[in-house]
Formats: sequence, structure tokens, C-alpha cells
Amino acid sequence: MTDIRKSIHGEWSSRFAFVLAATGSAVGLGNIWKFPYITGENGGGAFVIVYLGCVLAIGIPIMIAETMLGRRGRQSPINTMKTLTQEAGAESYWHYLGWLGVIAGFLILSYYSVIAGWAIAYVLKAVSGSFSSGDAAQISGLFDEFVKSPVQLVVWHSVFMIATMMVVARGVRGGLEKAVRFLMPSLLILLLLLVAYAMSTDAYQQGLDFMFNPDFSRITGDSVLTAMGHAFFTLSLGMGAIMVYGSYLPKNISIAKTSFLVAGADTAVALLAGIAIFPLVFANGLEPSAGPGLIFQTLPIAFGQMTGGLIFGTLFFILLVFAALSSSISLIEPAVAWLVENRDWSRKKACVLAGVFTWVFGLGTVFSFNIWSDFKLFDRNLFELLDYLTANLMLPLGGFFMAVFAGWIMHKQHAQEELQLDNISFKCWHFLVCYIAPAAVFLVFIHVIGVL
Ligand code: PHE
Repeated sequence: MTDIRKSIHGEWSSRFAFVLAATGSAVGLGNIWKFPYITGENGGGAFVIVYLGCVLAIGIPIMIAETMLGRRGRQSPINTMKTLTQEAGAESYWHYLGWLGVIAGFLILSYYSVIAGWAIAYVLKAVSGSFSSGDAAQISGLFDEFVKSPVQLVVWHSVFMIATMMVVARGVRGGLEKAVRFLMPSLLILLLLLVAYAMSTDAYQQGLDFMFNPDFSRITGDSVLTAMGHAFFTLSLGMGAIMVYGSYLPKNISIAKTSFLVAGADTAVALLAGIAIFPLVFANGLEPSAGPGLIFQTLPIAFGQMTGGLIFGTLFFILLVFAALSSSISLIEPAVAWLVENRDWSRKKACVLAGVFTWVFGLGTVFSFNIWSDFKLFDRNLFELLDYLTANLMLPLGGFFMAVFAGWIMHKQHAQEELQLDNISFKCWHFLVCYIAPAAVFLVFIHVIGVL
């Protein structure tokens, strides 16, 4: 049945290529920039446990579901949902799920690109020796001064958007696959080096305690929502990125196994980043709750103090930019694939339009760190609002409906045709997407709204 459907955009060359691309999408700023600072803001250990629980019980089953939907539909998420809805004989409004994802992707990329721009700027700072003093106060000052400059932020945001659109324009094999091949292993090596450095500081144990010793009194409804939202964000779930990557997946490749691999690698990178960063925070008398600047205010201290720090620092920020790039391309791919399918546009044209649109939106985030920093709605600036709306609300909502679709709407036998799981594993997965994942998202939402 599914063999008659073929993606017009091409296919991954192998299972390894898919794992790399999906890991490339998952591992990004979410792991290295966001995970440490939200862990810091939400009190450490207990937050980490809730996040890990969400990855296991909600993230992995939904990742399997999302990949499966993509491979069965073989088109952009909007058209995939249309086709699968017809196949299931369900109401046609399910394709709005594809739209929700496209909009979430735009919004996320608009601020993602700004932060990735910071990382580009930090490559230059590293190479020019700006961290060489290794002094915490000077390095914090450097960051504060940098984000106060709208011009600099706009320049780097633009550079990153152009790079993203250039990779996406080259298509599945030419662009996406090549971009991630060497990146992940190198990033891992540098992170291990930073962990080794963290071990040499006096505050190593204190850092570990902060991350792994849970103090549940610090958990609030909002921090549970943030942990759950982050599980979606870091695994690239709920907006169609994994669905569109799944649609390029050749048949006969085990979706469940690859999902475990991707989620495992993603979680490992996040934990390593935390283990590298918190000892530095404590060793230098910084605040774990410093917010989005956390890694930019801590890691340069290490690079300033260690031997070879100039080279390692430069390499680290280069790799961070590439990790961000392999994620950003997946944020915009659902929209580009849809424009190519429905408007009959070339990939290039679709990329230019999507890129310009996202770039303009990104200016809002740029200004929220300087000229609009006083503009607040619900006590949040524009960047914080966008982050909350997308990661905490839109992604879990998208994931909720994907789970419901895969579990309740789609014929069981069609899901099994794609997944090819043994009986017990299939039942387990089906139970998780039918009941556990949707119920968990629902309960967290209800709790935050204040009904419970
Ligand atoms: N997972 C990416 C990260 O952790 C971000 C992302 C979210 C990418 C949603 C695609 C879709 O950086």
C-alpha cells in the first residue's frame, strides 16, 4: 500500500543517514544552550528528573509515532496529514495539525536564529582572544555589552538565516545529509573535553549535586510544564520536523530502534553540557539562574583559563553553530516541502520566501534584548513569550494530537505495517500513545491553567 507513495523530495541514502539527520535536528541549542539555563532557573535535580521522565514516557513514544506518520504519508506534514486522514476515513480538519507545526517552526526559527547568531559572534570573540583573561566579571560584561547592540545581533542573525536557507535549498541529500555527517562526533569530543575541565575545578561535586540531587520543593506547575515542553523541543517533536524527516526514510528501516538511538544521543549531549557548565558556574560564584546568557558567560571562563583554550574555544563555538544549523534546517523544512508540493515552486524560491519571512520575525527577538527590553506582556519580553508559546504550548499540543491520531484515528494495522514491531512492543507503544502521552500532556496543561 505505502509503496505506491514516494516522496518527491528524495530519500535518505541509508539508515545511518537518517539517524544522523534526526540526531542533527534533535541536538542543537536546545541541549547546549537551553537545557543548562532552564535547569538553572528551575532549581536543578528535580527538574532534570521530570525532564528525563517526560523524554521516556512521552517523548520516545511520540517520536516513534511522528516518524511513522511521516513515512506512511511521504509528503510535507500538511499533506501527509491530509493523505493519512483520508486513508483513515476521518474528518478532514486533521491537516490543521500540519499547519500548527509549520507556524511553530517559523516562530521557533525566528528566535533560534538570533541565538545561533550569538554563537557565530562568539567564534570570532574566541579566535581573537577576548576570553584570555578568564575573569568571570569581564566575561559577563562582554556578554551584556554584546546583547545590548541591536546592530551586531541583526548582522549575526542575518548570517545564520542565510546559511540555513542555503543548506535547505540544496535538498535532502545534497544539503541536509552532508551538513551533519562530521558534526555530531566532533561536538561530542569537545563536550567531553569540557567535562574533563569541569572535573578539575573545586566545584565539580557541587555542580553534580545541583544537577542530580533532587529538591522537589523547588518544582512548581510551571516548571513541570517547562520540563515537558523542553522534552518536545529538544527531541524536535510536535511540529513536523521529525515527521518530514520520516517521510524521507526508506522502507524496512526500524523506526523504533532509530528513535531510541536519537533520543539517547540527545539526552546524553544535554546531560554532558550540564555537567560541563554547572561546576564552572559555582567555581566562579555565578548564578545558575542567570538565564539565556548562561553558557556565554560560563564556558568562555574555562576557555580563558585552560591551555589551548583559544583553539578549543573557537572549535567549540564553531561546532555549536553547526549543531544549530542542523536543527534550524529541520525547523523550516516542513514549510519548504509544502511550498514545493503545493505552489509548484523551486526549492530555491521557497527558501527565499520562507527565509525572509522568518528573518523579519526574528527582529522582535533581537530587540527584546535591547531597545524593547522593557516591553513586557504577562511579565515576559518578546523572546520569552515566543519561547513559552512555542516550546511550552504549541509543541506539546502538536505532540498530543499526533499521539491521538496515531493511537486512535489511524488503523492499528497501518501503524503496525510501518513499525513492524513484535507483538508485545507494539502493544506497549500503542498503550503509551493512546493513554499515557496524551493524558500526561493534558494533565500538565490543566494544572497550569489552574483547574487542578
Ligand atoms: N531540537 C532542537 C534543539 O534542541 C530544536 C528544534 C525544535 C528543532 C523543534 C526542530 C524542531 O536545539
